[in-house]
Order: sequence, then C-alpha cells, then structure tokens
Amino acid sequence: MRFMRTSSPNQLRGPKDRAPETMKVPKGLQPLIDDGVIDEVIRSLKSGKEATVYVVRSGMHLRCAKVYRDMSQRSFQRRAQYQEGRKVRGSRETRAMNRSTRFGRREQEHEWKNAEVDALYRLMAADVRVPRPFGYFNDVLIMELVRDASGDPAPRLGEVELTPEVAREYHGFLMRQVVRMLSLGLIHGDLSEFNVLLAPEGPVIIDLPQVVNASVNNAAFAMLERDVNNIRATLGRFAPELLQTEFAREMWMLYEQGELHPDSRLTGRVVREELPVDPGSVIQLIEDAREEAIRRRLGREEQVG
Ligand SMILES: Nc1ncnc2c1ncn2[C@@H]1O[C@H](COP(=O)(O)OP(=O)(O)OP(=O)(O)O)[C@@H](O)[C@H]1O
Ligand SMILES: [Mg+2]
Repeated sequence: MRFMRTSSPNQLRGPKDRAPETMKVPKGLQPLIDDGVIDEVIRSLKSGKEATVYVVRSGMHLRCAKVYRDMSQRSFQRRAQYQEGRKVRGSRETRAMNRSTRFGRREQEHEWKNAEVDALYRLMAADVRVPRPFGYFNDVLIMELVRDASGDPAPRLGEVELTPEVAREYHGFLMRQVVRMLSLGLIHGDLSEFNVLLAPEGPVIIDLPQVVNASVNNAAFAMLERDVNNIRATLGRFAPELLQTEFAREMWMLYEQGELHPDSRLTGRVVREELPVDPGSVIQLIEDAREEAIRRRLGREEQVG
C-alpha cells in the first residue's frame, strides 16, 4: 500500500450497503434506469455543492454517476468568471449568455454541465489520468468509479498519510498532469486535495465543470497558480522541500512563449529575469536579516526574563 487512509473507506460491500430494495431511486437517475443506461443504484457516495455522486451498476460494472444540481443565483454569478472565453455555438447564444435572460441562464447551465464531460474526453485522449467517461445522459455524467486496492471508492488526497518519497512522487506526477492539461490550453480551476483521488497506481484528477480556457481567461495565471500551490501545500506537509518549488510560474512562462509541450520536464525553479544583482547588496540584505533576527530573539528573551 502506498498510502495510509486517515478516514474509514466508503465501503461497498457489507450488510448496510447491500440493500438496493431500500434505496429509493433518486429522481435524476430514474430516466437512466428507464432507458437501460444503468441497472441499479447501489448507494449515494457524496452530496456536494454542485452535484450528488452515486455508485451505480451497469450490467456487470460498478460505475460512478454524477447528478448535477440546478444552479442557484449565487453560484451562477460565481461561475461566470470561469466561463470567460468559452466557445459556444453561435452568436445568439453568446449574446444571450452575456445578458442574464432566462434563455441565457439555461444555455449557461447547459454549458457548465457539459464542460465536465467534454473535458474528461479531451483529457483522457491526452493521457491525463481522469476517470474514464461513459457518456452524459439527462444531466448525469456516467464515469469510471475510481477505487482503492480493496475495491472501495478511492480516498481523496486530503484523507491519507504519505511517506516523503511517495509525496514527492505524487507531486511530480501531478505537475506533469497539469503540464499536459496546460499544453492543451486547459486549467483545472479547482484543483486541491479534495479533487484528487488515489487509486493504487497513483493520483486521479476529478471534478472538472469549471475547467478554464487558458488562452482567453484574464484570471488564467491566478487560477493555475492557485491549483499548483494547493497541491504543493498538501504534499509539502509530507515533504517540506516541495514548499520551495515554483512550478506554476515556470509552466506559465513556457506556455506564454509557446514552448510548453505535454512532456516538458520542469525544474520547479524559476530564473527571475530581473535587474542584474549587485553581490554587495545581497550580502548587505543577508546581514540585515540576520541582525533583525538577533534583535527579535533578544527582545523575546527580555520579555521572558
Ligand atoms: N469517478 C469517481 N470515482 C470515485 N469517487 C468519485 C468519483 N467522482 C467523484 N467521486 C467522489 O465524490 C466526491 C464529489 O465529487 P466531485 O468533486 O466531482 O463533485 P462536487 O459536487 O464538485 O463536490 P464538492 O462540492 O465536494 O467538490 C468526490 O470528492 C469523491 O469522493
Ligand atoms: Mg469536488
């Protein structure tokens, strides 16, 4: 086992789970049962802000069904920042989406829900490890159920203890995934310890309805930096030297220069192109900092004594 779970797994076997006759089929999933897309709803996995996620059975396979919630006015506005620059079909739709008409809202809502399935297909094709999508039916995304070694739904990155070696390995892997996404022009936009699952072979990135178009969104770099730094902070708890890395800036510089490739190898260090540095002034800065630290320590000792 590469990681220690700190939460109890959402087990799938066990007497409580196996009671499909008592699990009322949720309204959003009934049309999929009627159409034979799925055969059974096993259990609900998690009810989040944007969606409820279920474990379902299709024939012989367990899958994951994500049923999107309709938007509230507040989340509708919040989402607008992510959708900047997304392509929609025609100019009528674009105009409607910009105005807050009922039609515009419906279009935007439709767009949001579709964005995740589109992103999953694109990312899978580009060899980014995401859950394999099996289609989108009536506002429900059916995808691979990511599992742990014993077959239970996989834990989130934020729910495990890692050794420094494994933390470094996951960090390297996730940075390569972010590079692959960015070289397609995509930024996750909500990447964190809650949206990375751990399968036995490594991390799997989930939850992509807010995926951001890097080339047209004004906040693109800020979002990339937040994504990359969330992962750095989570894994830096186990391998503190990761906290010194600067992958977001490095990726972004290459991306802007048109030199980022899916397999670009990064260093995590950025050579800042600033004014030439005068070595004398650097030494002075170090001296000042040292003096300041001594002064602070003396101050504390005075207070204590
Ligand atoms: N393909 C999957 N395989 C296994 N578990 C999954 C899968 N997709 C989602 N989950 C579980 O369901 C949870 C919610 O999924 P997701 O993050 O996509 O939805 P969300 O509505 O955005 O949730 P939140 O508001 O908590 O971020 C995940 O944290 C994960 O535990
Ligand atoms: Mg999530």
